[in-house]
Amino acid sequence: MTASFLLFILILEATVPSIHGWGLEGHALVVRLAESQLTPEASEWIKPLLPWFVFGNLTAVASWADDIIHDNSNHFDYINWQWTRALHYIDMPDWNCDYDPQRDCKNDICVDGALRNYSQRLIAADLDHIQHEEALMFLVHFAGDVHQPLHVSFAGDLGGNKVKGFFMNNSRETNLHSLWDSGLIHWRISHEFQSNFGLYYEYLYALMRNQTPTIHNDDFKQWIIESATLVCQQVYFDETNVTMNASAVFHLGNIYYMKNIPVVEQRIIRGGQRLGSLLNRLAANRPKSPASSPKKLCWGTITLIVVVAIELVVVILAFIGTRMVKRLKEKTTLSFSNPFMK
Ligand SMILES: *[C@@H]1O[C@H](CO)[C@@H](O)[C@H](O)[C@H]1NC(C)=O
Ligand SMILES: *[C@@H]1O[C@H](CO)[C@@H](O)[C@H](O)[C@H]1NC(C)=O
Ligand SMILES: *[C@@H]1O[C@H](CO)[C@@H](O)[C@H](O)[C@H]1NC(C)=O
Ligand SMILES: *[C@@H]1O[C@H](CO)[C@@H](O)[C@H](O)[C@H]1NC(C)=O
Ligand SMILES: *[C@@H]1O[C@H](CO)[C@@H](O)[C@H](O)[C@H]1NC(C)=O
Ligand SMILES: [Zn+2]
Repeated sequence: MTASFLLFILILEATVPSIHGWGLEGHALVVRLAESQLTPEASEWIKPLLPWFVFGNLTAVASWADDIIHDNSNHFDYINWQWTRALHYIDMPDWNCDYDPQRDCKNDICVDGALRNYSQRLIAADLDHIQHEEALMFLVHFAGDVHQPLHVSFAGDLGGNKVKGFFMNNSRETNLHSLWDSGLIHWRISHEFQSNFGLYYEYLYALMRNQTPTIHNDDFKQWIIESATLVCQQVYFDETNVTMNASAVFHLGNIYYMKNIPVVEQRIIRGGQRLGSLLNRLAANRPKSPASSPKKLCWGTITLIVVVAIELVVVILAFIGTRMVKRLKEKTTLSFSNPFMK
C-alpha cells in the first residue's frame, strides 16, 4: 500500500490520455460538476480523504483509476492493478440492452458492482484511511464511466473498440469507443470553446444549473439502463441511419457530431449531478465518531515526508560540503602558495 501510495505522485505527474472511459476531460468535467454540488459537510469530509498533494482538489484524481492500470502512467505497479480493469464497464451480449446482473456482472465484477462496493467501502467504519481514499478515487471515476454509453455495451466488439473508422475527415483512424470517450468532446472544446477547458466547464455548469435535477439519483441500475438504451438506439447508427459494426469502416462527420454531442453533454451533466448527490448522501449517512478525531497521518504520508526530509538534508549537506571544501581550498592556496604576500 505504501508503495502504491508513493506511486500516486508519479502517476499524477505523468498523466497520459487513456482509452478507458471518458478521456481526461470527460472525467474531469464529471467530477468538477459533482464538486460544485457538494454540501459543506461532504466537502469537509472528502478533503482529508484525498492524497495531500492534490490539496483537496477532487477533480485531480478523476482519472486515477485509469492511470494505475497503464504501463506508461504507472510503470512500476500497473501489473498489480490489472484486476480492476473489468470494473470500468459492463459487457452485454450484442444488441441486448436489458442489463441482467446475473448474466452481465458475475461476482460483482463490473462497474455496477464497483459502484456499490466502493460506495459502501467509502464509509465502512472497519476500513482504514488508505482504503477510504482508494474507495473515493475509484468511485468518482466509475460514476463517470457508467455514464459513457459505450461502457455499458456489447461484448462482441469490446464496447465499440473494434468498430473502426474516421471522424471529420481526419486521416488518423479512430474507433467508436474512443470517439465517445474523447473524440466528440475534443472537437467540441477545440472548435467551439477555443480549446479552453475552463470555458467549457463553465458552459456545462450553466447548462446543469438551468435544468431540473435528474431523478433516480440513488439507482445505479437506472444509470446503467440509460447508457445501454442509448447504445441500442443511437450510438451505433451512422449518418444515414445504418448500423455500424466491426467489419465495416465508418466515416462520421458533422451530422453524427450534431446529433450526439448533446447526448455526450447530458451524460456528463447527469454523471456530475449524481456523483455529487451520492457523495452528499454518503457524507450524511457515514458513521460519525463522537469526538471528531484529528486527521491521522497514514503510513504512506509519513514515509513520504521522511524520504523528502532526508533528501533535503542530503542536498543541503552536499551543498554546504562543496562550499566548505571550496573555501578550504581557496584558503590553503592563499596561505601556502604565496607565502611572501601580505
Ligand atoms: C484541480 O485539478 C484539475 C485537474 O488536474 C485542474 O484542472 C484544476 O485547475 C484544479 N483546480 C484547482 C482549484 O486547482
Ligand atoms: C468488493 O469488496 C471486497 C472486500 O470488501 C473486495 O474483496 C472485492 O474485490 C470488491 N469487489 C469489487 C468488484 O470491487
Ligand atoms: C469532409 O469531407 C467532405 C467531402 O470532401 C466535405 O463535404 C466535408 O465538409 C468535410 N468535413 C469536414 C468536417 O471537414
Ligand atoms: C434508424 O433505424 C432504427 C432501427 O433500424 C429505427 O428504429 C429508427 O427509427 C431509425 N431512425 C431514423 C431517424 O430513421
Ligand atoms: C456491417 O456493416 C456493413 C455496412 O453497413 C454491412 O454491409 C455489413 O453487412 C455489416 N456486417 C454485419 C456482420 O452486420
Ligand atoms: Zn475508466
